[in-house]
Amino acid sequence: MERTLIIFKPDTLQRRLAGRILQRFEDKGLTVSGLKLMQIPRELAEEHYAPHKGKPFYPGLIDYITSGPVVVVALQGHRCIEIARTLMGKTFGYEAVPGTIRGDFGASRSFNLVHGSDSPESAATEIALYFTDGELVDYSPAGSEWVFPSDDT
Ligand code: RTP
Ligand code: MG
Repeated sequence: MERTLIIFKPDTLQRRLAGRILQRFEDKGLTVSGLKLMQIPRELAEEHYAPHKGKPFYPGLIDYITSGPVVVVALQGHRCIEIARTLMGKTFGYEAVPGTIRGDFGASRSFNLVHGSDSPESAATEIALYFTDGELVDYSPAGSEWVFPSDDT
């Protein structure tokens, strides 16, 4: 089963939106397989956002993601990487369409509430940055067969 790494960024916690945003992913049928509250150390943030190193927004991005508590979530489900990115919406809140998380709650370029892995490769790398194998649980909640039919592609 595919997994993806989601982070509820500091603005989500400061604005007390964590419960409502997690609900969006659960409502869609994705399963929580790992979850923790933490404040991301600078070194970890730099590792996570290494692909953006050197870009003009990089220093601000590191300051922002380390500025307060976050909730880190490993989600699982068929096509969950793509599904989570669709639920999140476009990167900048002012461009994200209503109905998406960023479209409903965000208005900013940088304070965009959630992170989601953008490929199977980044999902594997990012999940390993935040979770040990023992912190992840593989299970199939009751009714999963009504969300992900076994013959779905
Ligand atoms: P994320 O990695 O956080 O899930 O966001 P994303 O894939 O939608 O966007 P990405 O291109 O990976 O950019 C990472 C984060 O950097 C900030 N950013 N600022 N000022 C800018 O032009 C700019 N571009 C990107 C955003 O906070 C974005 O989430
Ligand atoms: Mg990204």
